[in-house]
Amino acid sequence: MPLIGRRSWAARQLGFSEFREDTASPLERAANVAQGMHMPIVSMTVNGALRSAEVEGRTLLVQFLRDYLHLTGTHVGCDTSQCGACTVHVDGVAIKSCTALAVAFDGAVVTTIEGLQDGERLHPMQQAFHENHGLQCGFCTPGMIMSAIDMVRRCGHDLDEHTIRRQLDGNLCRCTGYHNIVLAIRSGAAAMRPR
Ligand code: FES
Ligand code: FES
Repeated sequence: MPLIGRRSWAARQLGFSEFREDTASPLERAANVAQGMHMPIVSMTVNGALRSAEVEGRTLLVQFLRDYLHLTGTHVGCDTSQCGACTVHVDGVAIKSCTALAVAFDGAVVTTIEGLQDGERLHPMQQAFHENHGLQCGFCTPGMIMSAIDMVRRCGHDLDEHTIRRQLDGNLCRCTGYHNIVLAIRSGAAAMRPR
């Protein structure tokens, strides 16, 4: 990448020649946007690729991913930060993207369910959900898997049922009795252990 700011570089790729480097903090930028002072260009690395778009200041991260980047594996189930269907990783940590402004994540590294697979090979947690039938309709599954991977980061590879059920508190499934989801997470956590 040339020796200019990431946002300037991204803006030039998009043909915004008048774009000037924005040195405002995320909060200042959000305030400017709220006052209608400009439409910000948001740039972030999503699933390993730099992605940029001019967005309205009120654009949520989940809208940026789904509507601008067409990564529709991240779902919206409630819009009120309760169900976890919109869970993605930002800088390696799981967050609910339905209640986060996209402008606040300018420059971040984001991973969605589409970015887990290694070529044809599923991520071990995806494979575990497949093998343990950890889903019915599948609507909650991307969020479950993103949360489960973060659970392993926080709690380790030896997860008991009590820990899994407690840690899954922020992810709701309307179809299953959670039994197979717990089995899948336990198995996926073990499979993620470095060899
Ligand atoms: S859509 Fe984000 S928590 Fe439900
Ligand atoms: S599998 Fe249908 S909502 Fe969870």
